Amino acid sequence: MTEQLPWWQREAFYEVYPRSFQDSDGDGVGDLPGLLRRLDYLADLGVGALWITPFFPSPQRDFGYDVADYCGVDPTMGSLADFDRLVQEAHRHGLRVVLDLVANHTSSDHPWFVDSRRSRASLRRDWYVWRDPAPDGGPPNNWLSFFGGPAWTLDAATGQYYLHQFLPEQPDLNYRNPAVLAAMEEVVRFWLDRGADGFRVDAAWLLVEDEKFRDEPPNPTWRPGMRERDRLVHLHTEDQPETHAVLRRLRAVVEEYRDRQPVLLGEVYLPFHRLVGYYGSSEEPECHFPFNFALVDLPPEEWTAQALGSLVASYEAALPPWAWPSWVLGNHDRPRVASRLGEERSRLAHLLLLTLRGTPTLYYGDELGLPDGVVSPDRVRDTAGFREWGGRWSRDAARTPMPWDPGPQAGFTTGEPWLPLNPDFPRRNVQLQQQDSRSFLQLVRRLLHLRRSLPALVSGSWRLREAPPGVLAYHREGEDETFLVALNFRAQPARLELAAEVLLSTFLDREGWERSLELRGHEGLLARLRA
Ligand code: GLC
Repeated sequence: MTEQLPWWQREAFYEVYPRSFQDSDGDGVGDLPGLLRRLDYLADLGVGALWITPFFPSPQRDFGYDVADYCGVDPTMGSLADFDRLVQEAHRHGLRVVLDLVANHTSSDHPWFVDSRRSRASLRRDWYVWRDPAPDGGPPNNWLSFFGGPAWTLDAATGQYYLHQFLPEQPDLNYRNPAVLAAMEEVVRFWLDRGADGFRVDAAWLLVEDEKFRDEPPNPTWRPGMRERDRLVHLHTEDQPETHAVLRRLRAVVEEYRDRQPVLLGEVYLPFHRLVGYYGSSEEPECHFPFNFALVDLPPEEWTAQALGSLVASYEAALPPWAWPSWVLGNHDRPRVASRLGEERSRLAHLLLLTLRGTPTLYYGDELGLPDGVVSPDRVRDTAGFREWGGRWSRDAARTPMPWDPGPQAGFTTGEPWLPLNPDFPRRNVQLQQQDSRSFLQLVRRLLHLRRSLPALVSGSWRLREAPPGVLAYHREGEDETFLVALNFRAQPARLELAAEVLLSTFLDREGWERSLELRGHEGLLARLRA
């Protein structure tokens, strides 16, 4: 049964932020040949697919999310030949390779935009979103950018504003022009022809904006401390019907390669009832799955058995019957899960991630229980960190180098790392955790391997079950076997009156049949129920 499922349903994904994973040439920035050296580690860990964030030529204003050439490799990351070798070797290791398709915008250095801004008569003028100033000379409407300030920048030479949902150096493409979509389709074919196994569409819910450019209304729930952009309700800049048409087209291109089962995933930050729209329909599919960020968005104080039970149940209820779920604990844009929840609860979170129904995506370093790094304001490199938080917090904290061993520079580079290493790297690193049978890494590795060996954890049904207060418990029921997952979110012990074979505790110190399950404070168990 499970063997018949496509690979992207069976396997766990692992997000690699290549700048921070492994450097091979001593410039302090990770690269594709470095990643290649770590494929053994990833295969042994038990993940089945890598999603690699952008490594294309870029001025690095947003570390690759500002693409200047969609069909190349940035020299700091290697070459196209390195990419080809990486794909070949990854496949030999049983790992698929999923790329980041930064479809919403390009770099302002991209030749398309250079041409577009040259003159109002440029061939590619209409590849981007240009508007005349408002009567007072200001921006055409009140839309705000993600990284602070208006979503419009005036190009003085041609007297018009261009739209950018992110930095001014990231102008938005205009998907109302069919030539733009055709160009992006060619990008998809280029990488699929080279052996890529699919794409994660960046900012997938933002691809098209309101045709009438209407102002967005103020958000009455906005409070200081919230993102500046969320002063507005995003009625006209998010989740527009035309966005779905673009995703349907991209999916159709991916389907041209269907014998290899490439995947189209979407970055979509929306509530469940709108998120599920990004699957499309069974006749007109869009994403194989949009990422579900509910566990990333859940505030640490709301990680209770009750809140999590209803969160999972409402997601399951929102999904169309044929749609495949997705779960995520962290990514390169958000504080790390170990910092949000602390180590014990973060162990529970990984048990949850790897036993819920659907495809789990791990973020590099989270398998070590790696907390956010300490990046002092003078070392912040993330432009958004400056623009939004004045350098007090930045996404750099979640992007510090992977600690491989206790040696110099944690084995990440022979040079000066582009971001500081986490200060605890001599104690928290891959090498030491590989030797410690109860480490965070061993927990994640055991879970990934159990997930592969127990079909019910992949294809079985999911059902909440009664449990004492503070305990989240659910069944995964397969054709022959039923498993129980029980997570104690309280510090006090709790008991479940049932006999089961414990396969794993989040503390990695017990296994075997038990007549009734006693959970210690903050312990999670995976157990097989008596048939
Ligand atoms: C996505 C990426 C983020 C990037 C933004 C603009 O949200 O995950 O890192 O800054 O898009 O491309």
